[in-house]
Amino acid sequence: MRDALGAVQSALVLGGGSDIARATVRRLLTDGGSRLGTVVLAARHAESRLDALAGELRAIRPGLVVELVEFDADDVESHAALFDEVAARHGDIDLVLVAFGVLGDPAVTREQTGEALAVLHTNVLGSASVLMLAAQLLAGQGHGDIVWLSSVAGQRVRRSNFPYGASKAGGDGFAEGLADHLHGTGVHVMVVRPGFVRTKMTAGLPDQPMTTTPDAVADAIVHGLRTRADTVWVPPALRWVFAGLKLLPRPVWRRIDR
Ligand SMILES: NC(=O)c1ccc[n+]([C@@H]2O[C@H](COP(=O)([O-])OP(=O)(O)OC[C@H]3O[C@@H](n4cnc5c(N)ncnc54)[C@H](OP(=O)(O)O)[C@@H]3O)[C@@H](O)[C@H]2O)c1
Repeated sequence: MRDALGAVQSALVLGGGSDIARATVRRLLTDGGSRLGTVVLAARHAESRLDALAGELRAIRPGLVVELVEFDADDVESHAALFDEVAARHGDIDLVLVAFGVLGDPAVTREQTGEALAVLHTNVLGSASVLMLAAQLLAGQGHGDIVWLSSVAGQRVRRSNFPYGASKAGGDGFAEGLADHLHGTGVHVMVVRPGFVRTKMTAGLPDQPMTTTPDAVADAIVHGLRTRADTVWVPPALRWVFAGLKLLPRPVWRRIDR
């Protein structure tokens, strides 16, 4: 349970190897007044790939409990057991950070059905599965925060990468609807909408206007948790940029997004 000052004490991170997730956990540990004592990092091949990260986190806070658990967002049948096990081992979870996601290669996902569906499966169905389970877990406790990594790509879907954009639009709508459904229950859902962030996901791609960093997204998430924001845009000006872009007529939008 968050402490008397509202600091998060335990977190479950789904997609624990994400660059944005790593930066966010580090920020949660170094934030003034931080009380984070338990972090569960859930990822594919977690034991072999996240050991260094676990060591890095323990170096920041000696005594921090870091558990690495196997998690595949696509294997939705396995998700309920993961939540049950985490709750049984660690008790109350204050924060569930949902940070996994795939971009896909647009040149392929635009043309091949299976590849397009794979993006939707991970980003929409995988997210919906863990969001529902997180909501049930936190509602049972009577408190907690869920953070879901959306993207501005879902605010106006671009033809150049419409499978990813559509997946973020679908997930964003699901997370927002869930947030409203849970409003007043003590469980808070925050939707995070970054623009282009320099991470593994975007490695090799040219920067976009208002390109940002995992640390900037982490700062915005921690600030949003403190203020109980419903939606966080990173950088914040993107809120107004997309308010305008959404109004553009389709022929104009098609010309911009080549
Ligand atoms: N980077 C950006 O420009 C940007 C902008 C807006 C939103 N976002 C969103 O932010 C989130 C974090 O992305 P990031 O930028 O931090 O990229 P990242 O470092 O590539 O992290 C994405 C993570 O998702 C994990 N993942 C993918 N499919 C999975 C699956 N089936 N099961 C479990 N884990 C899976 C990957 O794990 P593996 O290592 O096992 O593949 C990886 O650790 C994503 O939802 C992304 O869509 C990113």
